[in-house]
Amino acid sequence: MKAVVVEKPGDESALKLAEVSEPAIKPDEILIRVRAAGVNRADILQRQGFYPPPPGASEIIGMEVAGEAVALGESVKGWKVGDHAMALIPGGGYAEKAVAHYRSAMKIPATLSFEEAAGIPEVFLTVFLNFFMLAGIKPGETALIHGGGSGIGTASIQLLKEAAVRVIVTAGSDEKCDQCRKLGADVAINYKSGPFAPAVRAATDGRGVDAILDSIGGAYLAGNIESLAQGGRLVLIGLMNGTRGELDLAAVLRRHLKIFGSTLRNRSAAEKAQIVAAFLEQFGAALEAGKLRPPIYKVVPAADAPTAHRMMQASEHFGKIVLKFD
Ligand SMILES: NC(=O)c1ccc[n+]([C@@H]2O[C@H](COP(=O)([O-])OP(=O)(O)OC[C@H]3O[C@@H](n4cnc5c(N)ncnc54)[C@H](OP(=O)(O)O)[C@@H]3O)[C@@H](O)[C@H]2O)c1
Repeated sequence: MKAVVVEKPGDESALKLAEVSEPAIKPDEILIRVRAAGVNRADILQRQGFYPPPPGASEIIGMEVAGEAVALGESVKGWKVGDHAMALIPGGGYAEKAVAHYRSAMKIPATLSFEEAAGIPEVFLTVFLNFFMLAGIKPGETALIHGGGSGIGTASIQLLKEAAVRVIVTAGSDEKCDQCRKLGADVAINYKSGPFAPAVRAATDGRGVDAILDSIGGAYLAGNIESLAQGGRLVLIGLMNGTRGELDLAAVLRRHLKIFGSTLRNRSAAEKAQIVAAFLEQFGAALEAGKLRPPIYKVVPAADAPTAHRMMQASEHFGKIVLKFD
């Protein structure tokens, strides 16, 4: 089969379409004929050699795919050959065939194309895990998401609005702020026009927000703490601005704040199965009805994977970039 491989860790020119052997399935896995694979920020880190796959996972980049089930391990339940699957996988997505644990896969609703479905598992499940399972966000509360135009940001806007949460986002241009508002964000702050924390306080009548999903880290830590309301929760999922920040412990103490760190990829198959099941229980109907649909910025042929990575690294996109396999 064909797969996008990394010749030698480095810039996007390291990505090459090559012939590799097909993956073998274990008893609890599905072999998926990949039609489309979602591109994620972490894929860039893996290409650069900074984010190796968890032990046992494919070395091929790619954490989410959509396509048809073409073979099933003997312990797989609830799936048949030919079913359309979108799956969260620990690696191996940038390939014509990929394996997924059957409980990390979801049926693709008729309302979604393969390209749209490929943009769902990694970001929607990450947002669900962090806002809903860890931070326990509730209807009527207010949430802040940095990078509102990212895959994670656009999934957050859709899931939180579906759950009747007030949504504040930050984004790096007025155009992206407009797009976030069109997608449902109540407030969008251009972080390049000034510090975000005072703008968040102003948008909440000085109260602050109940939960923050932060993929920036570094210098954002101080502003995040400043932006949290009494009892607020901060979930850190990325470090795009670096690993060190200054923490006002007095604010953590006084305002009863909680800080979580979380990664999805290196969780066990059992944990991922729980996340998928809880996600489908809460949002399966909205997904089926076509209310949850990632904005697709570009669908790029697999052979042009370097172009997809270049776009993402330049942050020119709004929503998801997807690789297509014919
Ligand atoms: N822990 C987990 O389980 C987990 C799972 C999935 C994703 N993540 C993390 O979530 C983040 C988003 O992932 P994604 O795939 O959705 O990424 P993405 O679509 O590439 O979006 C990232 C966005 O962040 C903004 N950005 C980049 N550098 C920034 C900086 N220094 N300061 C402020 N904003 C910056 C850019 O938008 P602007 O144009 O607005 O600047 C960019 O479009 C990544 O850090 C990723 O590693 C973590």
